[in-house]
Amino acid sequence: MKKYARITGTGSYLPTKVVTNFDLEKTLDTSDEWITARTGIKERRIVTGQNTCDLALEASIKALSMAKIEPEEIDLIILSTTTPDKIFPATATMLQNRLGASCPAFDLQAVCAGFVFALTTAQQYIENGSAKNILVVGSETMSKIVDWSDRSTAILFADGAGAVVLSADNTTGIKHSKLFSDGSYLSSLHVNNNGIDELGTIQMEGNEVFKIAVNRLSDLAEETLNECNMSSEDLTWMVPHQANIRIIKAVAKRIKLPMEKVIQTLDKHGNTSAASIPLALDVGVRDGRIKKGDTLLFEGIGGGFSWGSVLLEY
Ligand code: UT7
Repeated sequence: MKKYARITGTGSYLPTKVVTNFDLEKTLDTSDEWITARTGIKERRIVTGQNTCDLALEASIKALSMAKIEPEEIDLIILSTTTPDKIFPATATMLQNRLGASCPAFDLQAVCAGFVFALTTAQQYIENGSAKNILVVGSETMSKIVDWSDRSTAILFADGAGAVVLSADNTTGIKHSKLFSDGSYLSSLHVNNNGIDELGTIQMEGNEVFKIAVNRLSDLAEETLNECNMSSEDLTWMVPHQANIRIIKAVAKRIKLPMEKVIQTLDKHGNTSAASIPLALDVGVRDGRIKKGDTLLFEGIGGGFSWGSVLLEY
């Protein structure tokens, strides 16, 4: 019998320190009015002393609890992050140890598209029968690679973590996934380090990235629905990567999806890169908007460039 990869638990975690647009006004030539109008962000969370694995651990514990899965029942951990604790070992192995799990664990890097890449990778292990329960995590401390003097990026990026348990199911789960990369866009959105002798900071040609994001994500959403023989009316919720409310609105408009069917957390979370989709998902699940049987579309694009979508029955 065909196995489906179904989300059976979600969890998320945000650092406690809130940085509002008004806080940023004190150190940058910017305003709450500009940031709100151009991005939809009002505040974001920033770590004080925590690392990516610390956030991942909190989100994972909540996801495992919802799925009623013990750490020893996890067959694989995939942690998507742009901001690992160390060059090696993988942050996923630190998470495995701190959870008390004993399964294989690896990191996956696709920046803001990281969660859809990780979920799609996990899907393959479930569908081919080699895993029953996989912990898929997106966790980021983007504040560590932000140039805090650059107003075009410092207002956007933030910290947080989201996690899901993906389990084998006989009837329902992920129906479709699509992944793309185009490395020729490196200079549009990258970290400016040269080798591993420096950390570097995020560099972004914001306006160019904006236009490409709208085009690629709109095409992707349309293609995903077409390939599933669906229209946007069949979607219960779109849970997009949270980069800019104007990008989200443009994609929703193109596929004729009312904004009432979009989970939006930008105002409170900012852009948490690989964590943004599982964070938004967990918010929607825990406040009761997302229910079992709902049809969800995840989509995201990031760093110079990778993008992808996952369509699933929750
Ligand atoms: O998650 C990965 C993918 N990332 C994204 O999807 C991000 C995509 N890009 C964006 O979200 C937007 O391009 C930004 C929010 C980064 C910028 O918004 P924009 O509407 O594209 O602005 P812009 O870059 O065209 O800049 C317009 C003006 C410029 O001033 P002049 O040249 O018109 O005088 C900028 O210098 O806004 C200025 N500006 C700011 N003003 C106040 C740029 N950043 C700020 C700021 N506060 N923080």
